[in-house]
Amino acid sequence: MRIDADMLLKTAAEAKDRAYAPYSRFKVGAALLDAQGRVYPGCNVENAAYAPTNCAERTALFGAIASGASPKQFAAIALIGDTQEPLSPCGVCRQVMIELCPPDMPVIMGSAGGRWTKSTVAELLPDAFHPDVLKEEQP
Ligand code: THU
Repeated sequence: MRIDADMLLKTAAEAKDRAYAPYSRFKVGAALLDAQGRVYPGCNVENAAYAPTNCAERTALFGAIASGASPKQFAAIALIGDTQEPLSPCGVCRQVMIELCPPDMPVIMGSAGGRWTKSTVAELLPDAFHPDVLKEEQP
């Protein structure tokens, strides 16, 4: 499937405007593309207790699953912040991507200035704790 990075970054930027970030004031948007070409937006949603805060990427991933998308059937994710440099996903979101996305799936990281870079789910979390180890027989 052809991945239109500009389209995904535009959708992510629109989602960023819907972020609920009254505590950090750091708004993030994401856009997740599935294998059928559907795009799921996400934004960060913060909480006064801080810990329940959900990042934009996880909002997109969990929203997609809730909307009926199948785990591992995703083609790309883009994220963007009002940052000088392309915004890199946090460690928790990287772990969730390992769970729900193909390892070679592109992760497109955007910035306010329009510059973006690309990596993959596996490259962003080397030596990840992988769900497959839970299938191994335990003593
Ligand atoms: N945040 C994201 O939404 N995605 C990231 O990859 C980095 C961090 C959010 C969480 C919190 O609401 C704010 O940015 C500051 O950490």
